[in-house]
Amino acid sequence: MIIGIAGTPGVGKTTATTLMKTEVIDLNKFAIEKGFVAGYDKERESFEIDTEKLRKELLTYEECVVEGHLAPFVSDVCIVLRCNPEIIRQRLSQKYPSTKVEENVLAEILDAQLIEAYERCEKVYEVDVSEMEPDEVASLLDRIVKLIREGKEIKKFSPGRINWMHYLQE
Ligand SMILES: Nc1ncnc2c1ncn2[C@@H]1O[C@H](COP(=O)(O)OP(=O)(O)O)[C@@H](O)[C@H]1O
Ligand SMILES: [Mg+2]
Repeated sequence: MIIGIAGTPGVGKTTATTLMKTEVIDLNKFAIEKGFVAGYDKERESFEIDTEKLRKELLTYEECVVEGHLAPFVSDVCIVLRCNPEIIRQRLSQKYPSTKVEENVLAEILDAQLIEAYERCEKVYEVDVSEMEPDEVASLLDRIVKLIREGKEIKKFSPGRINWMHYLQE
């Protein structure tokens, strides 16, 4: 089983997962190391990844936890981290040009990662981490991963409870 930790860039996936007890594969690094690159997106300054090859390779592991915005494309169960779009804007504007920032802010408002996960994965959870410290996110994720591995349902984090639509009007 592949368990994915997804979310719009800036929600804090990498920060939280590096603090987890569970070992987590960084999908971007892993895909580039393995050479699963299908092209280069000049506008976004990022590699296009062959997600079919990526999933096939991950399936050679008996079980794994992966993180990255590609998680919805390769996972069986996906945990989508959600974050207040204004916080995402603030975080991303420190490292990206405004077009890239606003593209990601809009993606968060429109539930883009959640929808990708919902369409592809067997099971999806979403967690609002806007008010949480990285170590709190990490321990919550460790707990959720454990419950998923035990085959338990986690009603508290079932999808559809988070709505950022009111941020669209601004
Ligand atoms: N829980 C948090 N609280 C405050 N700042 C955070 C938190 N998680 C991440 N950050 C900050 O937000 C930025 C983006 O985090 P990062 O982990 O790289 O996000 P992602 O991997 O989802 O793109 C970083 O500058 C990081 O220090
Ligand atoms: Mg990251």
